[in-house]
Amino acid sequence: MSTRPRVLLTRRWTAEVEQYLGERFDVTLNEGDIPMDSAALTAAMQSYDAICPTVTDRIDRSVLATPNRRVRLIGNFGVGFNHIDVEAAKELGVRVSNTPDVLTDTTADLAILLMLMVSRRAGEGERELRSGGWTGWRPTHLMGQSLSGKTLGLIGFGRIAQCTARKARLGLDMRIAYYSRRRLPAATEAEHHAAYFDSVDQLVSPCDVISLHCPGGPATHHLINAERLRRMKASALLINTARGPVVDEAALVEALSQRRIAGAGLDVYEEEPKVHPGLLALDNVVLLPHLGSATRETRTAMGMRVAENLEAFFAGRPLRDPVV
Ligand code: DGY
Repeated sequence: MSTRPRVLLTRRWTAEVEQYLGERFDVTLNEGDIPMDSAALTAAMQSYDAICPTVTDRIDRSVLATPNRRVRLIGNFGVGFNHIDVEAAKELGVRVSNTPDVLTDTTADLAILLMLMVSRRAGEGERELRSGGWTGWRPTHLMGQSLSGKTLGLIGFGRIAQCTARKARLGLDMRIAYYSRRRLPAATEAEHHAAYFDSVDQLVSPCDVISLHCPGGPATHHLINAERLRRMKASALLINTARGPVVDEAALVEALSQRRIAGAGLDVYEEEPKVHPGLLALDNVVLLPHLGSATRETRTAMGMRVAENLEAFFAGRPLRDPVV
């Protein structure tokens, strides 16, 4: 019988990381890559020393409080951990780690991609061409709006927001504004030429693009609601690469269909993988399937970051990325 720690990966990871982990731990892979339900997660809590979930696994109090729990570490594959009840984990003595840093650049790229796709109506253009509806070049065809000189308002100003700000300022010539629960040091603001607004309400009104970079969870649930959408400019665009529930999707559908804002670019949804049918019917929204960190390089780096945390934990060293 193996004496190596038993580790469960709840989804398929890149081959490089699965092999790396397989050489060091007694690893179980989810061969079919089918999301695990809470019964399967509960059973896993009793059979493994560590489980490595993703955003598709709900690790709530009842899963964490499984009787005869064997799991001591939850090595999350991802930086966001709102799918894990960290308070319960703390109370029950289960350690939790995540994967910051390695997906910053890739996720910021996706925020920029959405901004460009929405502002330049790229989704509409692609759909038109593929459906055979393109009749040729003309001066007024699918005119979008330029981003150069416009103001990008970031909600949350952590690593990914700052990286997005850098790319938007240096690459797209945008002005930068932000709101964050805690104001950043003057040096950080100066580095990004960023103007601070001390409330979301104040930030959303003057900005041309609002991009969300705050964590998910009860404190940010429906942070973008009907009232804040009403405060935005009619020409404004909303970008969400953070977590779906930060936006009230029903209110967004209404604002987009009544053209109270010009467009939105979304990578995350309130009830993934379900998407509000109202969004699917609209042309002025670009919809991507939670691709923020989806490059081969980044997904491998995320897996290796989980591996570092597993190795540290089972060697009795401090976690590299402790959440709990
Ligand atoms: C993240 O890392 O938070 C991604 O959204 C996947 O969970």
